[in-house]
Amino acid sequence: MGSFVDFQNEIYLAGLGGAVPELPLTAAGLEERARELLGSEAFAYVAGSASAERTAAVNRSAFDRYRIMPRMLRGTSGPGARDLSVEVLGTRLAAPVLTAPIGVLELLHEGGEVIVAEVTKELGIGTVLSTLASSTIEDVGAAAGSWWYQLYWPADNELARSFVERAVRAGASAIVVTVDTPSLGWRPRDLEFAHLPFLHGKGITNYLSDPVFRAKLPAPPEESADAMRAAILTWSDLFGNHALRPADLARLREWTDLPIAVKGILHPDDARQVVDAGADAVVVSNHGGRQVDGAIAALDALPAVVATVGDRADVLFDSGIRTGSDMVTALALGAKAVLYGRPWAYGLGIGGRAGVRHALRVLLADFDSVMGLSGCASPAALGRALIATAR
Ligand code: FNR
Repeated sequence: MGSFVDFQNEIYLAGLGGAVPELPLTAAGLEERARELLGSEAFAYVAGSASAERTAAVNRSAFDRYRIMPRMLRGTSGPGARDLSVEVLGTRLAAPVLTAPIGVLELLHEGGEVIVAEVTKELGIGTVLSTLASSTIEDVGAAAGSWWYQLYWPADNELARSFVERAVRAGASAIVVTVDTPSLGWRPRDLEFAHLPFLHGKGITNYLSDPVFRAKLPAPPEESADAMRAAILTWSDLFGNHALRPADLARLREWTDLPIAVKGILHPDDARQVVDAGADAVVVSNHGGRQVDGAIAALDALPAVVATVGDRADVLFDSGIRTGSDMVTALALGAKAVLYGRPWAYGLGIGGRAGVRHALRVLLADFDSVMGLSGCASPAALGRALIATAR
């Protein structure tokens, strides 16, 4: 396979034949196109964040306080000069990026999770499958290359265990426990439509297909509208686990030998606690600003978490990644890899498989380009010396 930045030549060469790309070439452009094409409820679900959306805004502006100081004359820009691959939690990735877990992809495209699994496999990067997916763990496992399973730990340990065991059997190579969403944040854009997809039976496929969950139901949900309603109510009773504590990670460790990452960490003391309790990695994330409005920008939380646990756990990052330079900045601040969120979801919504592929190729080409032009032959070359704080 060529390098990711070959996408640039592909576009210019197509231009010689008169073709210009149909899909936007920036994250902002993808969002704008999605706003035009998606149904308003679906767009609100993806684009919306908590309350006044200040945390979503600072997730982006935090990047403006850093500047890359590109290094010259290092021979990193030519063909074959770079190896962007990394190994994170035992997973080899062609570049340090996985698609972030995003629930309910049926709002954007039927079979969305399977499409994302196939496309990330083709590109050699990873994907993290949400518990709130519209496709089953088994279908995604059969299609995916490198994939991790994101656990929303339900308020029932047997169900949690069943999800984890299904993911293990289906070939997941890590478990990502998201801890910032014991209940959903206050999201005005969804509230204005009174739209919560799960209550319409969307995004709960992995509950409906789970033997432990089904055993709790009065009747199979396929049987009647009433039975489905009962299943949805059972889901809503079980979704959030307010009793979860760091010590519960020991239980997860009994269920699986896979590496464990804890997602949604901002405070360094929380990072220390979960790593003390057995986590192999933390994902510094504020859920794209969808939970606590006014919460610290994820990028601003990253350095202290790296300083606190970086010597004994891998630190990953999400919330605000939109460009290759953003990736370079997060990696230079100590992240081992990033999770990429909304832009590929917009791609899926506006262009299905081609749209996801396009959105991911845009990020990867941009990252590849910045790496080469900054004198970095590999992610190992990224460190604080490459970035300055802007005034
Ligand atoms: C999410 N996110 C999320 N996280 C998670 O652990 N499980 C999930 O099911 C979901 N679902 C979800 C749906 C939608 C529509 C969004 C936008 C986000 C959070 C996601 O994994 C990631 O943390 C954020 O998307 C990062 O923010 P940006 O970079 O996308 O703004």
